[in-house]
Amino acid sequence: MRTSTLRTIVVIGLVLFSSNVFAQICVNCHKKVTPNIVSDWELSKHSRTDVGCTVCHGDQHKTDQDTSKAKMPTPDTCAPCHGTRVEQFKKGKHAFAWAAQWAMPTAHWQPMALM
Ligand code: HEC
Ligand code: HEC
Ligand code: HEC
Repeated sequence: MRTSTLRTIVVIGLVLFSSNVFAQICVNCHKKVTPNIVSDWELSKHSRTDVGCTVCHGDQHKTDQDTSKAKMPTPDTCAPCHGTRVEQFKKGKHAFAWAAQWAMPTAHWQPMALM
């Protein structure tokens, strides 16, 4: 009983530790590459509740040579923690407009400021 409790604590500790190490790697480099995105995240509740970069973007992209491996989140990425909101969003017309917009090949060529 004691050993299994201890083992659980060690495993949880390792998971939290490794996700923090990953987040720190992302933050250190992105402070230089995309400083505004890092400061947005630092100001948000996500940084204070341990929802690091890897929760939404995965941990496959690690250097400036493999940026295409970064995952881009979809509403399903948010669903495990914001289930009710994602469900409400998916029922609304905005969700349909969003899907239709990104189905247009030209949408990807627009400057971000226009999107
Ligand atoms: C050594 C530097 C470095 C590290 C470490 C790093 N990145 Fe990046 N990342 C970059 C660069 C450079 C780009 C390209 C930026 C651009 O084109 O404006 C990028 C792009 C991205 C993108 C956008 C990808 C796209 O398709 O537009 C995301 C998301 C991202 N990084 C997340 C992360 C996450 C999460 C981590 C940690 C697991 C991480 N990065 C670690 C340098 C880094
Ligand atoms: C709660 C989820 C979430 C977290 C946590 C998060 N991001 Fe993002 N990130 C997003 C979303 C959503 C987008 C926009 C995706 C899109 O445009 O399709 C995005 C976009 C990006 C982009 C691309 C911006 C562009 O215009 O191409 C980069 C780079 C990025 N994030 C880096 C980071 C870094 C570094 C961290 C940690 C400091 C981080 N993100 C944490 C959700 C998140
Ligand atoms: C691992 C769990 C988790 C995931 C995944 C997650 N969030 Fe969150 N989010 C939280 C927590 C925890 C809070 C803070 C508690 C609260 O205010 O509800 C939060 C707060 C927020 C807030 C309020 C921000 C603030 O600073 O006041 C927004 C907006 C938000 N999340 C959007 C998103 C979006 C969009 C996604 C998906 C791209 C996402 N979240 C994914 C856990 C998560």
